[in-house]
Amino acid sequence: MACRKAQRSPGLPRLRGDSILGPPMKRRNHSALLARLAADYERHSPRSAAIHREALKHLVDGGSHTIRLLQPFPPRITAAHGAYVTDEDGHRILDFWQGHYANILGHNPPVVAEVLARALGSGMGLQTGFTDSLQMRTAELLCSRTGAERVRFTASGSLATMYATFLARGFTGRETVMKVGGGWHGAQPWGLVGVDFHAESAHSFEQQESKGLPHAVAEQVIVTRFNDASMLEEQFARHGSRIACFIFEPFLGSGGFLPATQGFLLAARELTAKHGALLVFDEVISGFRFCAGSITRLFGVQPDLATYAKVMGGGMPVAAVAGRADVMKLAGRGGGVKFSGGTYSCHPASMLASFTMMEHLVAQEASVYPHITDLAEKARQAVEQAFATEGIFAKCSGRQSDAIPASSMAAVHFPYDLSTPCDSPEQTRNPDVCDVELSESVLQLALLLEDVFVMHGLGAASTAHTEEDIARLGEACGRAAKRIALSH
Ligand SMILES: Cc1ncc(COP(=O)(O)O)c(C=O)c1O
Repeated sequence: MACRKAQRSPGLPRLRGDSILGPPMKRRNHSALLARLAADYERHSPRSAAIHREALKHLVDGGSHTIRLLQPFPPRITAAHGAYVTDEDGHRILDFWQGHYANILGHNPPVVAEVLARALGSGMGLQTGFTDSLQMRTAELLCSRTGAERVRFTASGSLATMYATFLARGFTGRETVMKVGGGWHGAQPWGLVGVDFHAESAHSFEQQESKGLPHAVAEQVIVTRFNDASMLEEQFARHGSRIACFIFEPFLGSGGFLPATQGFLLAARELTAKHGALLVFDEVISGFRFCAGSITRLFGVQPDLATYAKVMGGGMPVAAVAGRADVMKLAGRGGGVKFSGGTYSCHPASMLASFTMMEHLVAQEASVYPHITDLAEKARQAVEQAFATEGIFAKCSGRQSDAIPASSMAAVHFPYDLSTPCDSPEQTRNPDVCDVELSESVLQLALLLEDVFVMHGLGAASTAHTEEDIARLGEACGRAAKRIALSH
């Protein structure tokens, strides 16, 4: 656990309650606490537990996406509306995960759901295999909000980043892909290097993350440090002539919810241009999450290619690669890059949801984004305060950088040392620097017992959340923090 009731460091703001923050604490073993939480959770959610046992008979680990399969079992959902989901045991769970951060208007927003229901009732909505004018209008809208000249749609973020990599390698005729440690671009060969922190390795973010991949792919990936412009310069000085593209998230998601700095973004743009490599922004999380379009609208650095998914899908499986016409041309007839196939790509219902969502966000931009960034900041403060009251030092990320003014996303970290800035995955994902098990596992289970669902300690605010929901989150964190504090 991070910090306990003892001496408080000078200079820190005074905290509510009697507790005071103490000196740095060492890494803790949470297995006894996790076992108690799991037993309580089994009593709390017997139907979800029973369904999970059945699910294990046919589904690997009881489901189809590891992150959804929290231990000892996930809540099995029966309905989802706005800020809440309902599970098989009848709990109304306040959800900050929100469709893996896709649901910016909350679950099943009527603005999209009603349009889809009408379409399905009037002979339109399921797969046709043909193309239509909606696809054209969706592409037009996406380009107008992102500065891209051409777009091609696909069905998942992983496919989008994979195709972007094909395009960059095809366009430049080079083999090597550069990414940042802790960056997640989905389960595709070049993205599956340097995602997880490996404390035992000297290069903690350089390993290939999956069996079954050709080893040669790992040799074609260079991992650099997020927000480290000097290291980027060194990497380009050494390897520049063989780098096809530098792909990274302008707002790092699974690496800890960290916004890129202006210096890093400018260096990335200058160095890729100077060395003939393409700059690829993975905007699967950030697209339409911080403004009604590309995050680049906030700081004016235009990539050569960008990938989109999540929010712009409107709750349906949609992803896109968008960018320069001369690069995207390679995906077309005679271009030589096989950005093709995809029975369900541009699915009519997906295009309708995507168009409807993007159109809504453009129309409501002035009200949606300030509202959700304000809620997220209130959530950060509520969480930090709840832990501080129990003498536990919690630090939320997702706040602004000099390039990205505000964000509706927040993750909580528990650094052992109060002075740790928690601004790089080398800190937030390193169990010797932050109590990763506490933020990733203990807190999630402790809050689930309070009927609150978080991912990476918190998640994303949506327009469906209210100030009362944030207050509820704060109270739930207070009880979870008490439980954690008492357990050690
Ligand atoms: C930044 C980023 N890129 C790519 C992906 C992969 O997208 P998908 O899960 O739709 O394949 C994700 C998924 O979380 C992501 O966060």
